[in-house]
Amino acid sequence: MLEKISKWMQKSEPVSLDQRGIDLSRVPSHVAVIMDGNGRWAKKRGLPRIAGHQAGMKKVIEITRAADELGVKVLTLYAFSTENWKRPPEEVEFLMKLPQEFLGSELNELIEKNIQVRMLGDESQLPAYTTKAVKTAMEKTRDNTGMVLNFALNYGSRAELIDAVKQIALDIKNQQISSEEINESLMESYLLTKEYPDPDLLIRTSGELRLSNFMLWQLAYSELFFTDVLWPDFKRENFYEAIREYQNRSRRFGALK
Ligand code: FPP
Repeated sequence: MLEKISKWMQKSEPVSLDQRGIDLSRVPSHVAVIMDGNGRWAKKRGLPRIAGHQAGMKKVIEITRAADELGVKVLTLYAFSTENWKRPPEEVEFLMKLPQEFLGSELNELIEKNIQVRMLGDESQLPAYTTKAVKTAMEKTRDNTGMVLNFALNYGSRAELIDAVKQIALDIKNQQISSEEINESLMESYLLTKEYPDPDLLIRTSGELRLSNFMLWQLAYSELFFTDVLWPDFKRENFYEAIREYQNRSRRFGALK
């Protein structure tokens, strides 16, 4: 038995880590982030909540750069949930203006970096200025082939699943598909994320240990990384720490080791 183990150990490839301790051959393809803690960050400083969102927006470009440089293929950021409409109107309005502000200053860099801007969520309820900013960015980065920067805006996982089920029911009624065909891959083809692999890693900042209606189907086998760091304080180094932690986990997808 011991002989077997040592043989196996000899066979495994030596891991070469970069100067940050990251194995560049095993970077997660899809990283999803619940950017939480903006309000608390502002409160700690005696500032209005919107100041926290403004500071949070600045972190989006920092983490986008870090993910892109590591070779992440898809970075999905939870920027506004279907539940966030319950916030005071001034805060909602401020959040809705952030894509415009962010893309106004960062779009050129995203274009240069070959990044593709995308959106996940129901755009029908968004103000015209938000949709316009996102659509323009999507259009201008449409032919890019690098990392996908995916903004989850007015996104809710239960709404996404309900829409998928409704569409499947309709397609069965119209005899486009039969109920026997329903399986995981068919279900996935009805989700907003159909073009992307499931997230390998979910990061949630600010110490909250919840999924908050985010990608409930897609996160089934993702590694979860929770940190107490508030989103406006979240730095490249914190992102690298999440990647290192991910690389130290053994992903089994329900099978034995
Ligand atoms: C949750 O923190 C955060 C949000 C609801 C908004 C997140 C948005 C950003 C970080 C900026 C997005 C940028 C672009 C470009 C779209 P919270 O307000 O719930 O914080 P709290 O739990 O401390 O109150």
